Amino acid sequence: MATLVPAISSRIWRLNLLRSPKLFSQVKAMKPLPSPRRLGLTPPLNSSKTHCCASDCSSRQAQLQNPSSSESPEVDITMLGIETSCDDTAAAVVRSNGEILSQVVSSQAELLAQYGGVAPKMAQEAHAAVIDQVVQDALDKAGVREKDLSAVAVTIGPGLSLCLHVGVQKARKIAGSFNLPLVGVHHMEAHALVARLVEKKLQFPFMALLISGGHNLVVLARDLGHYIQLGTTIDDAIGEAYDKTAKWLGLDLRRSGGPAIEELALEGDAKAIKFTVPMKQHKDCNFSFAGLKNQVRLAIEAQNVTPEIPISAANSKERSARANIAASFQRVAVLHLEEKCQRAIEWALKIDPSIKYLVASGGVASNKYVRSRLKQVVEKNGLQLVCPPPSLCTDNGVMIAWTGIEHFRVGRFDPPPPVNEPDDVKIDLRPRWPLGEEYVEGRSIARSVKTARVHPSLTSIIQESLQKQPKHTT
Ligand code: KG4
Ligand code: ZN
Repeated sequence: MATLVPAISSRIWRLNLLRSPKLFSQVKAMKPLPSPRRLGLTPPLNSSKTHCCASDCSSRQAQLQNPSSSESPEVDITMLGIETSCDDTAAAVVRSNGEILSQVVSSQAELLAQYGGVAPKMAQEAHAAVIDQVVQDALDKAGVREKDLSAVAVTIGPGLSLCLHVGVQKARKIAGSFNLPLVGVHHMEAHALVARLVEKKLQFPFMALLISGGHNLVVLARDLGHYIQLGTTIDDAIGEAYDKTAKWLGLDLRRSGGPAIEELALEGDAKAIKFTVPMKQHKDCNFSFAGLKNQVRLAIEAQNVTPEIPISAANSKERSARANIAASFQRVAVLHLEEKCQRAIEWALKIDPSIKYLVASGGVASNKYVRSRLKQVVEKNGLQLVCPPPSLCTDNGVMIAWTGIEHFRVGRFDPPPPVNEPDDVKIDLRPRWPLGEEYVEGRSIARSVKTARVHPSLTSIIQESLQKQPKHTT
């Protein structure tokens, strides 16, 4: 049977990051992949620099094609991951055996609490103020130096351009100075793939429900870099609805709105207010949270809740009114997820009946109520739910490093950037970058108007590259 074997490509895939895209036939002076080491206890085994030509690389990659196979000898990769797409500055060092050597997150929660949302310029300044320290801490905690790394992975989209820029510039500086390859990572793919780090049995194909502050996606992950988008939001993501509800209820936003609502909802009556479940009449897998947000705002106004009085200062009657709104909002928001998830599972199983898992990830998936309700839907359909731990659901550097490893070992990375690259060099950032191609049946009639300047999807770029690769027979 003729199959495409991307891992044996002798070419370096220039998917991103480069100033003037053209294909290289080999990597010059690529660093040898470091040998397995224990955390900071033994010196690097590869102390002499060897130059790795393209065929050396490809034979290593061939060994790594099937990372889960116990027969293929695993080449150890140590990846630094950098994430600055929204309001968290994060870095981590992860090994290809799944060992997390370090994880550092500097959150802008104080700013968020002060301004009630992410202001791009301020967020950029906050990233720029801490990025050097965050990366240094990640390296120190891991007990590795830059020269010990195999490559650097960084989020290049989707996200806020100004913020992405800070992380990418830092990644390019390190990669240029230490002659390291670069892997440009899709933030939402990283939310999905980090589940493969925690659940070793999780093989493609699987489903992923990605629920965060800026995104609300349900996809079928057919393979690394190959996603079918079954549904997306036509307006707001669920995390945005949690955050606004928390703000309007006068909750403490220093840990972001989601956890504050989750906690307060435990005290409330979830059936106290009859919010309507969104998009019931749409027989698709798309989401909408703008209308629910509006229903919540009206309910808050009707009950004369004064957000200026923080919840900590509210009397018991006022507190219980707010708790009822929090619980009722959460119940209906999650019901909407459940309904769309049920349909998405039916669609996905029609496309590929071999699916066994559904991954729920992104900040909102760290919510216990969300997890328990999704578990019921998923298990009712004979699938298993995989949720990364909360620290890997919210934005983090581990997911970026891990996704970097997944692509790096099949040969998808860029060669090191030039040393001393000027700061004002134009770099490839993808603020609006779909993960997959839309499933035809999934097209929403209630389409979002935000379609301008969308980058071709990750899946279409990779599929196009694959078609240009030589075919191998197995
Ligand atoms: O994935 P993430 O860290 O950043 C984005 O990519 O957006 O997600 C952040 C979102 C925020 O809206 C936050 O309120 C929400 O995830 N979130 C939660 C919880 N923890 C974080 N929502 C509900 N319950 C939680 N426990
Ligand atoms: Zn995220």
